Amino acid sequence: MELIKSVAEMAELGRKWRAENKRVGLVPTMGYLHEGHLELAKQAVAENDLTVISIFVNPIQFGANEDLDVYPRDLEGDLAKAESVGVKYAFAPEAADMYPTGFATTMDVAGVTQTLCGASRKGHFQGVCVVLSKLFNLVQPYRAYFGQKDGQQLAVVRKLAQDLNMPVEICGVPIVREADGLAKSSRNVYLDEECRKQALVLSQSLQVAKRLYDEGERDAGLIKAAVQAHIETAPLAQIEYVELVDAVTMQPVLKPEKPAMLALAVRFKTTRLIDNIILG
Ligand code: PAJ
Repeated sequence: MELIKSVAEMAELGRKWRAENKRVGLVPTMGYLHEGHLELAKQAVAENDLTVISIFVNPIQFGANEDLDVYPRDLEGDLAKAESVGVKYAFAPEAADMYPTGFATTMDVAGVTQTLCGASRKGHFQGVCVVLSKLFNLVQPYRAYFGQKDGQQLAVVRKLAQDLNMPVEICGVPIVREADGLAKSSRNVYLDEECRKQALVLSQSLQVAKRLYDEGERDAGLIKAAVQAHIETAPLAQIEYVELVDAVTMQPVLKPEKPAMLALAVRFKTTRLIDNIILG
């Protein structure tokens, strides 16, 4: 496993690989790796000549009152985990190297960022788009891998790459869950025992939606109400949103005809969890 810390060194390697016609897979992460991340990495290793995992807690995608300072970190553990699935390169830059004094560029993908997490986390997706554009320019990947766990992020990245003709194939990977259904997340470590137990209502509520949809229900209001009612059986759950959106545009739908995403964000005490399911 080779650890690259410098932006200049990463740029040099990216250029070299491109000149050698190597197909590079990129797995962008913020570290504290779990099996969700490793599933992306395994797929990248299987499909490309070499794989780079980036580990960077990107400060510009966090809001002022979010968890940047306490975001869990474990670089050594991450390197060992990534290596165990065949990743050969890890890029873990310093924030000051990625964003030197005077950094001024912002990016805005309209429409797709205006609902769900984009509505409640102002500036979040701008920060995601900037860091991913930088990573794509540095690593020059042939493919980049993203989890359906962050369904809106995947839709935003697809739109960004398409609109700007970025020479990278965006690959989506299904959500990896704990045995009891909770979607794996670096933030699950914040949950105390009681919250961890009650957080099960999230994946269960998505199954409620799926059952209704499979039985032929197409009234978005009714599906959302059933999901909401199930989440509310957990006394600690504070719903931020339960939405049914078009799977590509992320705009709310009243009657799902094309594939739609039932997405939710729920707080348990200070921990904000997201989950989703594709219907149709
Ligand atoms: P992070 O939250 O570390 O997630 C990195 C990637 O792992 C994302 O594509 C995310 O969707 C995927 N992932 C996380 N949990 C998953 C799970 N349970 N199943 C499948 N995939 C999962 O998302 C980010 O970092 C950042 O916003 C980033 C894209 C790196 C930009 O900074």
